[in-house]
Amino acid sequence: MSNVTYISGKEPHSREHRLIFRNIDRKGYDPGLKCYLKDGGYEQLKKAVTMEPKAITDEVKAAGLRGRGGAGFPTGLKWTFIPPTNTKPVYLICNADESEPGTFKDRYIMHQDPHQLLEGMAIACYAVGAKLAYIYVREEFPHAARILEEAIAEAKKAGFLGKGICGSTFDLELYVHRGAGAYICGEETGLIESLEGKRPYPRIKPPFFPAVLGLYMSPTIVNNVESLCHVKHILAMGGAEYAKLGTPNNTGTRILCVSGDVQKPGYFEVQVGKVTLGEVIQDFCGGLKPGRKLQAVIPGGSSAKVLRADERFKLKRGDEMVEIGLEDIPMDFDSLAACGSMAGSGGVIIIDDSRKISWVLNNINSFYAHESCGQCTPCREGSLWMKKISDRIVAGKASPDDVATLESVANNIEGKTICAFGEACSWPTQSFIRKFRAELVADTREELAGVPVNHETTLAAANLKN
Ligand SMILES: Cc1cc2nc3c(=O)[nH]c(=O)nc-3n(C[C@H](O)[C@H](O)[C@H](O)COP(=O)(O)O)c2cc1C
Ligand code: SF4
Repeated sequence: MSNVTYISGKEPHSREHRLIFRNIDRKGYDPGLKCYLKDGGYEQLKKAVTMEPKAITDEVKAAGLRGRGGAGFPTGLKWTFIPPTNTKPVYLICNADESEPGTFKDRYIMHQDPHQLLEGMAIACYAVGAKLAYIYVREEFPHAARILEEAIAEAKKAGFLGKGICGSTFDLELYVHRGAGAYICGEETGLIESLEGKRPYPRIKPPFFPAVLGLYMSPTIVNNVESLCHVKHILAMGGAEYAKLGTPNNTGTRILCVSGDVQKPGYFEVQVGKVTLGEVIQDFCGGLKPGRKLQAVIPGGSSAKVLRADERFKLKRGDEMVEIGLEDIPMDFDSLAACGSMAGSGGVIIIDDSRKISWVLNNINSFYAHESCGQCTPCREGSLWMKKISDRIVAGKASPDDVATLESVANNIEGKTICAFGEACSWPTQSFIRKFRAELVADTREELAGVPVNHETTLAAANLKN
């Protein structure tokens, strides 16, 4: 990174490790092909087309890359799920829907370094045998869609896309598809339905795992923008070398998007697991706002379970179990899962003590109620009920029993729906109630009117209803 200079005021933090964001905010850098080629652009694609496709997948597997779209699924392993006996066309879709609240990384790649994504996609297509690929860009990113379309035209003219790529026999057509303006279009099977021109109703898995039955019922690899960008760097470094970045099982770098109550919110590319949540808040983001105390953190996009500032967590370190506080949690997939939440899409939302918890939960519930696709009853009805109940709590019109009802509604969504939106909308409610029950009950009308509430009874009521 030493030969790279950045726009004044936008320099990366000294502890960042920039691979994917190397060219973001770089002085004099533009999204054109000329600029990309000056710095080794498309060299990895030239190398890739001389390799056996399987050798590329093996490098990605050796790198240990896990998907950056939300679930953290191993990318190389996903690629091997295409049935070996398949005779249908194989497709690759780049998921550029970036719809999880708190997440704002993919848009910078598309705006400022589109050829990095195209090169990653072309290498991935070569590895999985796809001759047709799409970038599904959310409707709210028209600027990104235009930049990508220009980049595709440039790459095609220069022989990096189209027929006989880089003098090989590899052909690839790549199209931008503009999204339908809904959160559920980011869920891979909803996305596929939308791409097919239909309403984005997610498909049930099994049998509709995209790698087997995806776009037009053909094998389809769906990967996030950031995941696909990593492919180029893995090829450049070699899988084993890439795997030395980060921590075991949580390799490489990832972009954290930090928003909420910190002095300097923003994006930071770090080695996975090499920084703690406390370092992110204090060191990268300049700490909390003056006079404020940390109340909670949602570490992986709005659907991740909330963590309370004063919680204690048990983590395995070597052979030992250690107890740690919130600020000591390493920012990686496994540690955040062990602490009861998830790394998700990398959207870290910081909540200080100026926020009313009922307001935060209501804000999240309003989003999910608006975004349920309506296909299955527990999610369609439940997400709206959760919003209505949290509306009442915020307005001081709820009864303490409503908190118990709210919890029971969430418990009746989780695990009972076609797609993981069911979990995405119920986890915030479940975790906020589990960790902030007293704060929520304190906002109900009896408490506000000074009527003493028996918290034991409301807890028992919740358990009965579940
Ligand atoms: C409700 C819902 C919304 C999602 N939204 C996105 C999104 O906006 N972008 C994304 O990359 N993945 C999103 N995902 C995850 C995708 O379904 C899919 O797992 C991902 O694109 C796979 O890419 P990866 O393996 O590279 O992470 C969403 C999942 C769910 C359940
Ligand atoms: S869980 Fe919700 S978003 Fe997913 S299919 Fe069912 S209704 Fe639609």
